[in-house]
Amino acid sequence: MVRWLCRGVLHGGARVEGGLGIHPKAEAKDGARERKGWLSWFGFGSVWVWKKKWLLNVEDGWGFYRRERKVPGAFRSMPEKNLPPTPFGLPILGHLHLLKKPLLQALETLSYQYGPILSLRLGSRLVLLISSPIAVEECFTKNDIIFANRPQSLFGEHLAYNYTTLTFSPYGHHWRNLRRFTVIEIFSSNSLHMSSTIRHEEACSLVRQLFRGFHGGSQKVDLRSMLFQLTLNIMMGMVSGKRCFGEDAVDVEVGQRFLEILKETYVIVASMLMSLCDFLPILRWVDFQGMEKKVVSLKKKRDASLQDLIDDERRKKQIKSSTITTETEKKKTIIGTLLLIQEAEPEHYSDDIIKGIIVMMFTAGTDTSLLTMEWAMSLLLNHPEKLEKARAEINDNVEQGHLLSDSDLAKLPYLRCIINETLRLYPAAPLLVPHVSSQDSTLGEYHVPCGTMLLVNARAIHRDPKVWVEPTKFRPERFEGVNGEREGFKFMPFGMGRRGCPGAGLAMRAVALVLGALIQCFEWERVGEEKVDMTEGGNGLTMPKAKPLEAMYRPRPTMVKLLSQL
Ligand code: HEM
Repeated sequence: MVRWLCRGVLHGGARVEGGLGIHPKAEAKDGARERKGWLSWFGFGSVWVWKKKWLLNVEDGWGFYRRERKVPGAFRSMPEKNLPPTPFGLPILGHLHLLKKPLLQALETLSYQYGPILSLRLGSRLVLLISSPIAVEECFTKNDIIFANRPQSLFGEHLAYNYTTLTFSPYGHHWRNLRRFTVIEIFSSNSLHMSSTIRHEEACSLVRQLFRGFHGGSQKVDLRSMLFQLTLNIMMGMVSGKRCFGEDAVDVEVGQRFLEILKETYVIVASMLMSLCDFLPILRWVDFQGMEKKVVSLKKKRDASLQDLIDDERRKKQIKSSTITTETEKKKTIIGTLLLIQEAEPEHYSDDIIKGIIVMMFTAGTDTSLLTMEWAMSLLLNHPEKLEKARAEINDNVEQGHLLSDSDLAKLPYLRCIINETLRLYPAAPLLVPHVSSQDSTLGEYHVPCGTMLLVNARAIHRDPKVWVEPTKFRPERFEGVNGEREGFKFMPFGMGRRGCPGAGLAMRAVALVLGALIQCFEWERVGEEKVDMTEGGNGLTMPKAKPLEAMYRPRPTMVKLLSQL
C-alpha cells in the first residue's frame, strides 16, 4: 500500500555542464532517468519530482545539484504493469536477504524457482535477472541500446573518475569517443600486431624463469603468482613500456606499488556488485562499514601512482622529442599515444581521462586474463589426455626449435577450443558487468521499467542442460568447427552488444600464447594423486579459483636446447 502510494513517473532531464562538455553523470541522468526518490532510500519505490530550478537533489541519494524540467502532470501515479515474477520481499531490504553467499548459487536457486526472467528489489534498486538464451537475445538485440547504460555506484563515482572510464561511463557521446579511441589504438588488429612483441617477450620470460628455477626431478610451482606478474607486465608494457617483474625487470618498485594497488582494488571491486551502500543509499550517510573511506583512500593512492606514470612518459617525451620524429615511435605506448592526442584535443583528453584508460587496462584486463589462464591449466591438469592433444597440435604446427608466437595461433584451433571451453565453464565475469535501462521497455510479455539494473547469469546459461550436452563436462571438442567465440546467445564470456568486451581479441591472444608456451615447453602434473580443487571463489563480479593453482613441472627433453638459449 505504502509502496503504491509512493509510486510516480519521471520525465526529468538533468544536465551538469563539466569540462568535458556534458558530464557523463549528467548523460546518465539524461538518458537513464534512473528512478530514484527520497522514499527509495528506504526501498519503498520512488517519487519523481519536477522543479524548474537547480536543487540539491537529496531525493536521488547522490547528493549533487541538478536541474530538472517542468513537465505537466507531475506526481502521476505509475500503473502497476506486468513485471517479471518476483519472490516475496521485505520492506526496506526487498530481496537483499535472499542473496546469501555464495551469490551465484543464490541467484541460480532463485532462477530455478521463479524462471529465467525474474525481478528482484535490492533495497531501492529494481534488478532484472535473466538466465536463458532467448532473454539474452532480446536484451542485446531489440533492447540493446536501452540496456547500454551502467548503474551508478560508489565505485564508479570514486574509482572510475566520476563515471568517465570506458567501463563505467553511461552510454552517450563520451563513451562512444572512448570506445572509438580504444578500439582503434589498442584493440584493432593493427594495434594488437604492434603489441604482440610485448606478449611474446613475456611468454619467453615466463618459460625462461621456470626453466632456470628447475633443479631436477619434478618441481612445484605457484602458477597464480607467476601468471599475475606476467599479465601485469603485459599491461604495463602496453601502457608505459615499463617492465616490472622478472629477472631483467628495471621498474621493480613501480611494479610492487601497482601490484599492491591492484590487489586492494580487487578486494574493493569484489564487494562492488552487492554493495549495500548502492542499494540502500542512506547507508552512505553513515559510511556503513567505512566503505566510502576505504574507496576514497584507495582512489588517492592509485591516482598518485597513475599520475607518476603519465608524468614520467611526459618527461621522456620532452627529452627525446628532438630525436624521435616518426609517429610510430611516439605511439609506442598507450600513454604516449594519449599524450599526442592530448596535445591536439586538450579539452577532451585531460590527465583524468588518460588515467581512466590506464585504469581500464589494469582492472578489466589483468584479473580476467589471469583467472582464465589459471582455470585452463587446472582443467588440463585434471584432463591430461586433452593436454596431450593440445601438445600434439602444437608439435605438428609450430616450427621445431621455436617458441610459439602470435602468428602460430591461427594454426592451433584445438588450443582455442580449450580456452572457449574454459570460458564456458568458468567465465571470468560470470554475471557480465551490470547494465541499466534508460527507458521503459518490454522483455517477452513483461514490462521492464526505466532504471532497472540488468544482471545476466552467463555462468548459469553456460551450464544449462537444456542448452548444452553434458554441460558440466570439460569437452573442448564441442567448440570444434565453431567460428569465433560467440556461439549464438548461449555462450557469452565477453558479454554482447554495444557494451560487450572490447578486449576479447587481446585476451584470447594473451591467454592462448601463454597457455601454448607452457604446454609446448614443459610436462605438467598435479601436485598429488587427487584432482585439482575446482572450487569457485569470488563474489559474482569475477570468479577466481578459490585456491591458487600449484602444479609440478619439468622441461620437455626436446625443448631443453631452446629453453637454455632464451
Ligand atoms: C578473458 C578475459 C576477459 C573476459 C572474460 C572479459 C569479459 C568481459 C565482460 C563479460 C564484460 C562485460 C560485457 C557487458 O557489459 O555485457 C567486459 C567488459 C569490458 N572489458 Fe573485458 N574481459 C576480458 C578481458 C579484457 C581485457 C584484456 C580488456 C582490456 C585490456 C578488457 C576490457 C573491458 C572493458 C573496457 C569493458 C567495458 C566495455 C564497456 O562498458 O563499453 N577486458 N569484459
